[in-house]
Amino acid sequence: MIDRITVDKILDAANIVDVVSDFVTLKRAGANLKGLCPFHDDRTPSFMVSPSKNICKCFACGKGGTPVHFIMEHEQLTYPDALRYLAKKYHIEIKEREQTDEEKAEQSERESLFVVNEWANEWFQQQMNDTVDGRAIGLAYFRQRGFRDDLIKKFQLGFCPDKYDAQWQAGRAAGYNEEFLLKTGLCIRNEAGKTYDRFRNRVIFPIHTISGKVVGFGGRVLDSRTKGVQVKYQNSPESVIYSKKRELYGLFFAKKAIVKEDLCYLVEGYTDVMAMHQQGVENVVASSGTALTHEQIRAIHRFTENIVVIYDGDAAGIKASQRGIDMLLAEGMSVRLLLLPDGDDPDSFARKHTATEYQDYLKEHQVDFIRFKTDLLLAEAQGDPIKLSKLVNNIVDSLAVIPDEITRTFYVKETSQMLAIEERIITGAVTKVRKRLREERAKEREREALRQQTGDTEPQTSAPDDVPAATTETPPEEYISIPQRTSASSIKKDSDDAQILKTEALLIQMVIRHGEKVMCEVEDEDGQKRPMTVVEFIQYSLADDELTMRSPLHRRILEEALEHFGETGFRCDRYFENHPDFEIASLANDLGHDPVTLSKIHTKDTTLKPEEERLVDLLPHLMTDYKLAIVDERMHAVMLQMKDPAVLADKERSIELMKQYQDIKQIQTILGRERGDRVIG
Ligand code: CTP
Ligand code: MN
Repeated sequence: MIDRITVDKILDAANIVDVVSDFVTLKRAGANLKGLCPFHDDRTPSFMVSPSKNICKCFACGKGGTPVHFIMEHEQLTYPDALRYLAKKYHIEIKEREQTDEEKAEQSERESLFVVNEWANEWFQQQMNDTVDGRAIGLAYFRQRGFRDDLIKKFQLGFCPDKYDAQWQAGRAAGYNEEFLLKTGLCIRNEAGKTYDRFRNRVIFPIHTISGKVVGFGGRVLDSRTKGVQVKYQNSPESVIYSKKRELYGLFFAKKAIVKEDLCYLVEGYTDVMAMHQQGVENVVASSGTALTHEQIRAIHRFTENIVVIYDGDAAGIKASQRGIDMLLAEGMSVRLLLLPDGDDPDSFARKHTATEYQDYLKEHQVDFIRFKTDLLLAEAQGDPIKLSKLVNNIVDSLAVIPDEITRTFYVKETSQMLAIEERIITGAVTKVRKRLREERAKEREREALRQQTGDTEPQTSAPDDVPAATTETPPEEYISIPQRTSASSIKKDSDDAQILKTEALLIQMVIRHGEKVMCEVEDEDGQKRPMTVVEFIQYSLADDELTMRSPLHRRILEEALEHFGETGFRCDRYFENHPDFEIASLANDLGHDPVTLSKIHTKDTTLKPEEERLVDLLPHLMTDYKLAIVDERMHAVMLQMKDPAVLADKERSIELMKQYQDIKQIQTILGRERGDRVIG
């Protein structure tokens, strides 16, 4: 448990620009900053950070919020853990009580796996540096390969001794749960029930997340064994914390340099990353021998748009990675490629050159993907016309996925020059492929929509006449619409509902901005005058007509505001903007500022009084609008029933409805007059 005072200290210290910048490269955009959204597949910067409001928000996917929300979402932490993260960042001390056994048991599996990995990481290093075998075998291996001690330390390399179950025993002795030693994959239990170490007699490369936590390990056999049947690398298996398609080896150590250089090198293996660091090139990550994934590309794209893919020169590998290149292009990355001479990899190449030679080589030999592909394929085609036309198609396929039109046009020009083919022919071909891709995507979306429609098991609330639920989101431009049964009544019903929610949101806005403020004085039953706050007024007015708010979110906000009613120092705006529930906080951040107060700062317009001074006028007005919207909806429902032939035939029911109609009409008139009066007054 973190006490309230410490929480406030953390909230005050956490600076959104600071916090977000640890993960996203931000560029100035007027008073705000923007960057690529880390929460969705973002190609154009849609992630806005507002230093003045201390919040961030993605305009495409909607995620964001306060520094705490950002960390919760980004690091997948609970609210208290996100606070702890920020406390650490800002050196704020948290005094916490000892956890009970029960709480310990409840600690999530994720956390436990991280804890076990952290321990294992220390243990591997200690085994290598502080034991005789470790130094003679593990450390000696790395040194022999030419890795400097400072890099061995920086990358936290380690060693697992050649014993059947040394780590298993050590882990249990240190008090770690057997379940987690197995779930992290550090130890393996065979069918006979015997447990042994996965990484025994291997040197260890820990794999870090973007924020530096250890999710897994790669263990390499020692040289002497490489020629045998044994697999060169053993890697941690997938687990709740380790997803191979998401991690990139070295990103944690590279992110700063990637931003600084605005460029990222992509290599294949652990040792390539190490070797390049050693040569002074730190903006490098490895895909670890597997095909590049969307998630990995996005992780890089958050820091830079420019990538150089380094190949160790064998043609088969290069061809196999074409898909990867197209994926990079489709993500809007600018792709360059670099071929190392004669089957060298970055590691072996490093050993033959000085740092300066190495860096110069990298700079001079990278070429853009069109040139790379053309050179490669031209050499292969050797004038064969069929192969040549395949080559053109291959390049056209790559060009077609480039999202940015200007970049695409530029590359089309270059291709046309390199292949001596008229530009308009290439443009035509690219357009065709783009059209096909668009159609494929549309079909995919259609299938997806169908899947969602049929798979939707959510119970429908209040849909008496089997009306399809209103879509809350406006469909994207290219959306292929699924035919829906619509009728005049359902349209009316939806718009009534929307009107109610809209006016309800305005009331909630007042709760968030001014909930605890006094708006007027009222007289008690015994003639005593007492102040009435905004939240009380809303609650009483609703209760008067036996109304409750329609949106569950609005109901919660009102309830929570009432719960804290009367607490000294309690402020609704601060409370809701920092609410642990992201949905509430996000709404509060959207609604939480009086635009007049804000605009006054800029325009010095004094004709409009800030909301705070107009509460006594504003609130009754908003309440009337809200009630009118509800009455309108009832009126429409009654009128609809009155038109129903079955009802028309039932005389009693008709009269009953007629009466309701009259009542509602009267209420409408009264409310309408109230509103009118206020408008005039
Ligand atoms: N890899 C793997 N399992 C293997 C072989 C390779 O997981 N059996 C992954 C590792 O992440 C490795 C990368 O693919 O780093 C590249 O493989 P390779 O070039 O063979 O290894 P290097 O990193 O170059 O290692 P070394 O220089 O020690 O041979
Ligand atoms: Mn290699």
